[in-house]
Amino acid sequence: MDPLKELEKYEEFLKIKPLYWDDEANEFVWLDTRLLPFKEVYRRTKDYRRVGVAIKDMEIRGAPAIGVSAAFGMALAALEVNTKDVAEYLDKLKEAKDYLASTRPTAFNLFWALDRVWNVIESNKDKGVEEIREAILREALTIYVEDIRNNIEMGRIGSKLIDDGDRILTHCNTGAVATAGFGTALGVIRYAWYEGKKIHVITTETRPVLQGARLNVWELTKEGIPFTLITDGMPGLVFKRGLADLAIVGADRIILTGHTANKIGTYMVALAAWDNEKPFYVAAPTSTIQATADPSSIVIEERNPDEVRKVMGQYPITLPDVNVYNPSFDVTPPKLITAIITEKGIAHPPYLKSLKRLLQQ
Ligand code: MRU
Repeated sequence: MDPLKELEKYEEFLKIKPLYWDDEANEFVWLDTRLLPFKEVYRRTKDYRRVGVAIKDMEIRGAPAIGVSAAFGMALAALEVNTKDVAEYLDKLKEAKDYLASTRPTAFNLFWALDRVWNVIESNKDKGVEEIREAILREALTIYVEDIRNNIEMGRIGSKLIDDGDRILTHCNTGAVATAGFGTALGVIRYAWYEGKKIHVITTETRPVLQGARLNVWELTKEGIPFTLITDGMPGLVFKRGLADLAIVGADRIILTGHTANKIGTYMVALAAWDNEKPFYVAAPTSTIQATADPSSIVIEERNPDEVRKVMGQYPITLPDVNVYNPSFDVTPPKLITAIITEKGIAHPPYLKSLKRLLQQ
């Protein structure tokens, strides 16, 4: 069965195609999000190392998009390695897996997707190279389709928490371009809009990479969803003045306690919502949930200081060698999170119980 067949059902939800597999050319294709909102440029490759560079350099970013792309990276490696010797084939695939796993440390979906592909390799290792190759490609396509299905389902479930007229604050981009399509937190917003709810989005600009100012603005404009752009320092005032009814964000990694790693600044948005008694929701597929209860296991990526010194990688906004601290994510504690929306349902506190139950479904 062709996993892609299922996508025909979702056509109305897939107005933006951030990444896909070109079956005829055997190439992976993606939208270079670094150039948005000014240019829509697709890149393509047969080389898994190029996929790794695209993830590292954030041409592809957002936890689910990173995971799905890594799975396609494994499909490219499976096609590239030219041997009939299964042991040699597996060695080369392991090299590709380790390389792809080294690209970004926080997004759990990356490791989840690589493990899924690896499990398929393991369970086919008694067969020939050709069968293993086919199984890898099928698994990558399945992961891709599943991400789209899960996003739409999360949208349907999460939209129930959104009322007509709500003003929704969000941080970072969690839309179509952060996933295989449709989006997580922005998918919930999108779904509510498709249902006819008259919502208004307030998006932070999301320093230093500007996922809000560049990517949310691009996606929301394309959809015609009304929005206001604010700087990252404004959510406190926005909630205090009663200008936002709720916040919804995505996640790069959630652990069983509910501790949620997401784009730097998320924690402050959660504090602002909590201090003003407004709901703060996280929307993420279960592929973002790591089955551990130890918050110290969450690795926070630190990125190049030049991201802070310059805007868009080129316009200096300070002196060239100024001392910089550039962690890319922070961790929001569960006591600040009203609920976690997944494709399997909504988890409420205490998360240790509710998330465990969702994962077991
Ligand atoms: O550094 P990025 O742009 O990859 O960070 C992305 C985020 O923090 C998103 O909120 C998260 O991955 C959820 S994406 C659906």
